[in-house]
Amino acid sequence: MKKISVLFVCLGNICRSPAAEALFIKKIKEKQIEDRFLVDSAGTGSWHVGKKSDLRMRLAAKNRKIDITSIARQINKNDFQKFNYILTMDDSNYKNVMSLKNREPYSDNCEVRKIQEYANSFHEKEVPDPYFGGEEGFDYVLDILTDSISGFLDHIFKNHF
Ligand code: 4NP
Repeated sequence: MKKISVLFVCLGNICRSPAAEALFIKKIKEKQIEDRFLVDSAGTGSWHVGKKSDLRMRLAAKNRKIDITSIARQINKNDFQKFNYILTMDDSNYKNVMSLKNREPYSDNCEVRKIQEYANSFHEKEVPDPYFGGEEGFDYVLDILTDSISGFLDHIFKNHF
């Protein structure tokens, strides 16, 4: 069976999207459905390529028993063929990803969304960028991502299972 492929995208790929990736992987492992998925994350920018995630994000996640292990990479045109879903964190990521996608001829099977569309409890329009803020911003990112990932999985269950 073909895997359902999901790519989480933010700006730097060191805070929000690696956290989303780790939260999603934890959820699908708990449900014992990880074999059905290909999961990754990427950034629209290239400044942090090759680096581990931001230590503040890793520590906030560790407090919730979530391991963030991803290494930053930049989104590229192959991702539009490889992934069924690209989930972005804010309007800027969404616009940047869509402008890349619109240049790719074979990208029709890739659905680009803002992850907050799937939120149930948090009514933020975006997942706020925590990079220049305090530690509480990283916890807040985890809170809202936990909510929207749960909603996204519900969407996946309705459409693929
Ligand atoms: P992210 O956060 O997009 O959630 O990974 C950021 C990381 C780095 C920068 C901005 C946002 N930066 O300006 O270097």
